[in-house]
Amino acid sequence: MQTFDLVVIGGGPGGYVAAIRAAQLGMRVACVEGRGALGGTCLNVGCIPSKTLLTSSAKFAELSHLAAHGIAIGGIQLDLPVMMARKDKIVGDLTKGIAFLFKKNGITLIEGWATVPTAGQVDVQGAEGNSTLAAKNILIATGSEPTPLPGLEANGTDIIDSTGALAMDAVPERLVVVGAGVIGLELGQVWSRLGSKVTVVEYLDRILPGTDGEIAKLAQRALTKRGLKFQLGRKVLGVQSGADGLALTLERRGKEEREILEADKVLVAVGRRAVTRGLGLEALGVNLDERGFIKVDDDFSTCIPGIYAIGDCIPGPMLAHKAEEDGVACVESLAGVKSHVDYASVPGVVYTDPEVASLGMTEEALKEAGTAYISGKFTFMANSRARSTGDTDGAVKVLATPTGTILGAHIVGAHGGDLIAELVLAMTKGATIEDVARTCHAHPAMGEAVKEACLDALGRAIHA
Ligand code: NAI
Repeated sequence: MQTFDLVVIGGGPGGYVAAIRAAQLGMRVACVEGRGALGGTCLNVGCIPSKTLLTSSAKFAELSHLAAHGIAIGGIQLDLPVMMARKDKIVGDLTKGIAFLFKKNGITLIEGWATVPTAGQVDVQGAEGNSTLAAKNILIATGSEPTPLPGLEANGTDIIDSTGALAMDAVPERLVVVGAGVIGLELGQVWSRLGSKVTVVEYLDRILPGTDGEIAKLAQRALTKRGLKFQLGRKVLGVQSGADGLALTLERRGKEEREILEADKVLVAVGRRAVTRGLGLEALGVNLDERGFIKVDDDFSTCIPGIYAIGDCIPGPMLAHKAEEDGVACVESLAGVKSHVDYASVPGVVYTDPEVASLGMTEEALKEAGTAYISGKFTFMANSRARSTGDTDGAVKVLATPTGTILGAHIVGAHGGDLIAELVLAMTKGATIEDVARTCHAHPAMGEAVKEACLDALGRAIHA
């Protein structure tokens, strides 16, 4: 039996980063992965393929809007198989890159599905046979999977989940997206740009729950302008399949009225749930919360000594970068290095056009908590770089204590996901809005809107 200091179950961003950091710290590490490729959901069927298709579809859409720049292009054609092949190649190259990093760091990759019969032991069922590993420590990094919607279960043909929406072989004429969250908006926009008529049905009266309400409204306005249709406050009661495609029955929340919405394909994106089944955790007595997430302490230890968990399968935002931070902090503390994750400053980005970037508290959460705050806002319409590129939709919003400590920052606009990094650093390092406002920002640049939002909170915006 092979013996390891650490056996990581799951080779996604949480697991593979933890494995590499543990190897750097001198541990003998194995990583068990059953998917046949490293990188987890993020690399294989999540962040990377979706961003690849968002980029390709944005280029396609942009070509149709160049007339205002004095550029006339005719005969634009979509070659979907080439677009998909490019995406697959990028995914393949990146997953192979992780396998290379494993070799370089002396990490043993064991292909197969793991179970944990007891602390200190991992059994692996692989295509090439079964094996048993002895592990001083076990780290569960099994991630998450799409939450199914009863009555609208993905069938791989006309009702699909995010994985299916990344691999369609034709552009559906009418695509209905159920759920106006991150996945629904990103993938809805991909197919809208490629020619689908996309309608997003959302149970709540707003899009992107959890993000700042004012910013979500600006995002909805901009996304509508770019072609997405929204039907908010609606519950999907069921779907019927007929000669003309699918017919969804919707009910307006709080009303008896029913509506029929027709579609050729339905993308269900109503959230994700932790993957913990099949590992043997129940038999071991590992505590799960009421939503199925593994309960852990500050050092990521479960209630069973020697078993740890990180990433999407524990409570917290389901984000690749958060899982990476968890993984590093977990193995560093195992190695006796003082380490922690500052969850208050984990940014979230929706990579639509415009991008929606969030950090820290929303204005609604501050009001609810009764926290005293000041706020500043600057619209991209007043930013000269945005005017020259045509990216005038959106704004930067900052929220701070009356003495300037940053409590939250929210951006909707082109490059919002990059612009938020300045505020993440400021928040993490305790820089105030005065510090950001007094930092020299290049001109003309979108980042000047960040500075101006901070100046606005201080009552002295120059260009507002
Ligand atoms: P989500 O939680 O972001 O949004 C799901 C939406 O579906 C919510 O607005 C919810 O109100 C709505 N909903 C739920 N049940 C419904 C029903 N029966 N009918 C209509 N609407 C309903 O979940 P999503 O978009 O599936 O994403 C899952 C996770 O993946 C998120 O936690 C997200 O953070 C992560 N993710 C992150 C990305 C990024 O960082 N760019 C990209 C993609 C996913």
